[in-house]
Amino acid sequence: MSYRAVRRVMFLVPAEQIHMWVFAALRLLTKVAPLRAAMHRRLAPHDPVLASTVFGVRFPGPLGLAAGFDKDGTGLHVWDALGFGYMEVGTVTAHPQSGNPVPRLFRLPADRALLNRMGFNNRGAGELATRLTRHVYDVPIGVNIGKSRFVEIEAAADDYRASARVVGPLADFLVVNVSSPNTPGLRDLHAAEALRPVLTAVQSVTSTPLLVKIAPDLSDAEIDEIADLAVELGLAGIVATNTTVSREGLETPGADMLGEGGVSGPPLAERSLDVLRRLYARVGDKLVLISVGGIETTDDAWQRITAGASLLQGYTGFIYGGGLWAKRIQDGIANRLHDGGFRSLAEAVGSAARR
Ligand SMILES: Cc1cc2nc3c(=O)[nH]c(=O)nc-3n(C[C@H](O)[C@H](O)[C@H](O)COP(=O)(O)O)c2cc1C
Repeated sequence: MSYRAVRRVMFLVPAEQIHMWVFAALRLLTKVAPLRAAMHRRLAPHDPVLASTVFGVRFPGPLGLAAGFDKDGTGLHVWDALGFGYMEVGTVTAHPQSGNPVPRLFRLPADRALLNRMGFNNRGAGELATRLTRHVYDVPIGVNIGKSRFVEIEAAADDYRASARVVGPLADFLVVNVSSPNTPGLRDLHAAEALRPVLTAVQSVTSTPLLVKIAPDLSDAEIDEIADLAVELGLAGIVATNTTVSREGLETPGADMLGEGGVSGPPLAERSLDVLRRLYARVGDKLVLISVGGIETTDDAWQRITAGASLLQGYTGFIYGGGLWAKRIQDGIANRLHDGGFRSLAEAVGSAARR
């Protein structure tokens, strides 16, 4: 049976419900060691041309699982078996919280997109830390941290610091998320005067490479300001972008009636690429840029790499693309590298932007 047929059946079940079932099934399957090993052999990136070392961490392949799918790190053994080159778990917050009322995740099938207002449902940074301590892993793990909902924006720095203190030393990289549209006031932390204390608070408790994840709905001036701040503070990089609050161009009937939330997938792609280009023009090789938002095909992935992204991530493309999606994209990237005469992924990063 094709994934398209499987997807048609899965899409009959409410989105969050099927997410939980499929995730549980994946965890179960990959607990069987020989099966996990077989999946890894078949799906993981093995071509050395795909490997790279950025901010001191070696990535076997450039495509990672984006934050939000495995918020609590309950599937740490799943993602490399499915061929991802790394994973970003979280968002976790210092305090466990249940998130927004259900329903809070919707499919926009005509757009191959999703709309979510999950609101950082998670079991807290402490529980993730316990899980990371026990896990022996093959691919890099980034941890994405956010602000606990009940904490006032003025006290955000302390809240981020509390999470960073427990998960920072256990992660290969840490991402400060100020860009979810589903925690009231969170996006106000993009302003440099608000972001600076948050980032320095995190830096004061961990030396793990630090990145900031930004929204696609920023002005050019705001993007430049964050890029400059990231360079000034010696951050490792920027993750661009989170979901968009824009509803422009959506084709799914009734999309306007679903209420608040962030849209992911192809409707976000153009804006996410624009933000990447702006960042690369501003900071060049001074920061590592991780591009996420609407990556669905090898063409999308290659465009992001040559526009300046050292690493990529996807969430919605995986939902619509299925279990072979990560392999398909990374095989495609390897072919482009060989065809273009590039000796390594790093050589291709930003090559279109520099022309
Ligand atoms: C259901 C859902 C939950 C998400 N949760 C988080 C989250 O907790 N933290 C975060 O930084 N991004 C979160 N994201 C955003 C993704 O990490 C990613 O930035 C966004 O979906 C764009 O990528 P995509 O088009 O490949 O999905 C979430 C996305 C979705 C669809």
